[in-house]
Order: sequence, then C-alpha cells, then structure tokens
Amino acid sequence: MLATQHVSLGARSYDVLMGAGLLEAAGAHIAPLLKRPKVAIVSDAHVAELHLTTLSKSLDANGITHSNLSLPQGEATKSWAHLQEVVHWLLSEQIERNDVVVAFGGGVIGDLVGFAAAILRRGVRFVQIPTSLLAQVDSSVGGKTGINAPHGKNLIGAFHQPARVLADISVLGTLSPRDFLAGYGEVAKYGLLGDAAFFGWLEANGPALATGDEALRLEAVKRSVAMKAGIVARDETEQGERALLNLGHTFCHALEAATGYSERLLHGEGVAIGCALAFETSARLGLCSQEAPSRVRAHLKAMNMKTDLSDIPGTLPDAEGLIALMKQDKKVSAGTLNFIMARDIGKAFVTADVPHSVLKSVLTDALATRL
Ligand code: GLY
Repeated sequence: MLATQHVSLGARSYDVLMGAGLLEAAGAHIAPLLKRPKVAIVSDAHVAELHLTTLSKSLDANGITHSNLSLPQGEATKSWAHLQEVVHWLLSEQIERNDVVVAFGGGVIGDLVGFAAAILRRGVRFVQIPTSLLAQVDSSVGGKTGINAPHGKNLIGAFHQPARVLADISVLGTLSPRDFLAGYGEVAKYGLLGDAAFFGWLEANGPALATGDEALRLEAVKRSVAMKAGIVARDETEQGERALLNLGHTFCHALEAATGYSERLLHGEGVAIGCALAFETSARLGLCSQEAPSRVRAHLKAMNMKTDLSDIPGTLPDAEGLIALMKQDKKVSAGTLNFIMARDIGKAFVTADVPHSVLKSVLTDALATRL
C-alpha cells in the first residue's frame, strides 16, 4: 500500500511517498524527475551494505545510471570535511544543475547531502530516501539541511526542499530497537504538540508498532508526515508555528551537549526526555495539570524508552550548567530563550516566559532522581 502526502510550497512543492517495499520501486518514482537518466547517490556505509543493492537494481530496471559515495555512519559525518568530500565528489561525477542527487540514509545523510545539493552549482535538486524512523517522520521533510559546528548542532545550513521523499516502511525492520525507539521520540512529539487523538492512538498502538507491525508503522509515519507537511506549508522558514516542532528540543540540545553528542544519548532519546521535562515545566507554571506530564512519562516508560535524566548513563552538569547549555541553543532570539510549553497534551505553544527559578527547580528535581 502506497500513501502520498503533498507538501504545498508553491514552486517548491513536492510529494512524500510512504509504503512498504517502496525501495524496490524507487527507480520508477525518481525517473519522472530526471532530465537525463543519471543520479548520484550518497549514503552511509551501514545503509549501503544493507540496502544499496535493492536501490541499484531498481534504478537499473528504469535505465538510470548511478554512482555511489558511502560515508561513515554517525553524527560526526555532519562536518565541513565531509561536506567538502560530497561536493567535490558530485563535481567529479559531473552532476549538473539539472541533475538529481539522492540522499540515502538517516538524518545525518539527509541533512548533509541536502546541504551539499543546496550549494552545488548554486542549487541542484535532491531526493530524500530516509532509512531511519527519525528521518522518515521528521528530518527528510521540510527542507532543513546543514552540518554541525564546534559551537553546536545544525548551526551551518540552508533551507533547501527535496524534490521528492521516498519513505520505505520495510527498511525500518533493519533498525536496532534502540534506533527505532529514538525515532519514536519524534513520533510521540507530534501527538504531544498538536494532536491529542494521535497521542491516544500511540498509547494504544505504540507497543505493537515497536515490535514490528508494518500497517501500524505506516499509519504512524503517515500521521506524523501529514502534521509536519501542514506546519511546513504554513511556516517554511520557522517564523512562528514551525517552532512547535522543537518541543523538547531545548532540553534535548543541552543534554546532547552535556553528553558530548555521543552514544550515551541519541537525539530522539533526548527529545523524549525533553518532552517529559517540557510538560513538567508546564505543570509547574500552572499551564497544565500534573496529570499531563504523568501521562507523557507513563507512555514513554510503557515503550521502554529513556524517560528521565536517571536513564542517561554517566555524569551530567548541575541545573545551572544545563541551563547555560540551553542558552547556547540556536533558538535564542535577541538573547531570549524561547520555550515550547503546553496547556495540555496536543496543545503546545511558544513562550519566552519561563522564569529561571522554575527551570532550575525542574532540573534540580530531575537530577535528584539520579542520586
Ligand atoms: N525538525 C524540526 C523542523 O524541521 O523544523
């Protein structure tokens, strides 16, 4: 079964195709975009080993010539050095202005290759073939591309929308349970920020979805992508509503910085813990009832996900140290830190009005659970 979500952005509109086994049909879905039958694929070594043969066969079957560059797996690949490698490789492959580049992998590959496509010959088109749950529901849709700086994540980049997104639900079956659940943090985020009914659906179906039910996985990806497509169409460059997609992310970025962007905490795990902290802060501010953060935590725990600061191995800075890291977030505007708070599950909003004292007490109490 194939589902399509249109992302409506005028001349930059595109479709997100979602379905099981889509990789086998990728060539047929890429062919209509091409001015000549040639693409360049950039993937990571792990994805290439698992799935490149399937993609290659599908391109061959449609008469599309292709070459592949495989990069090391992991966040460190989102660097100037690998950006240069990708751009120089695309030039050596004689990828022209009218050609299409294929980003084949998780969020790291999508962000890096999308940025390379944005700057190559002042912009070439690219197709996202996201292979992680996180990339399928979030990073492959919406055109945020970029690399990391020593100063923080995603600080160098561009908005560059893909020409098409092909999300094959079957490839999620090759993810480790940890990677799958990290991506699920972003799925839960959609319910928490704007769709209480979807969060209720996840409470009922999340465990079955995690153990491999493809119909449920497709439904979760479809509903997440539909929400993201709507938000991106209304606010492509994050002047307002798109900021809601950062629910949990200010806490998350501080925790990722504190753990050195390492295996100690995956991005999606940080998002899940960050969402729990955002709801706890909202309850302390009297914005929502205490029942809301309890329900968020109960669901994350039912999914066997990292939920609390005590689930992060190793030492963490104290509350003031974490707040200092939060202030380095790129969402700081005119020196003010904006937060995504919630009036209830599914009712998030942006505010700068989170007193330091409340933040400090939430983090102090959260850190105390680690003792
Ligand atoms: N991942 C957040 C956004 O695309 O805006």
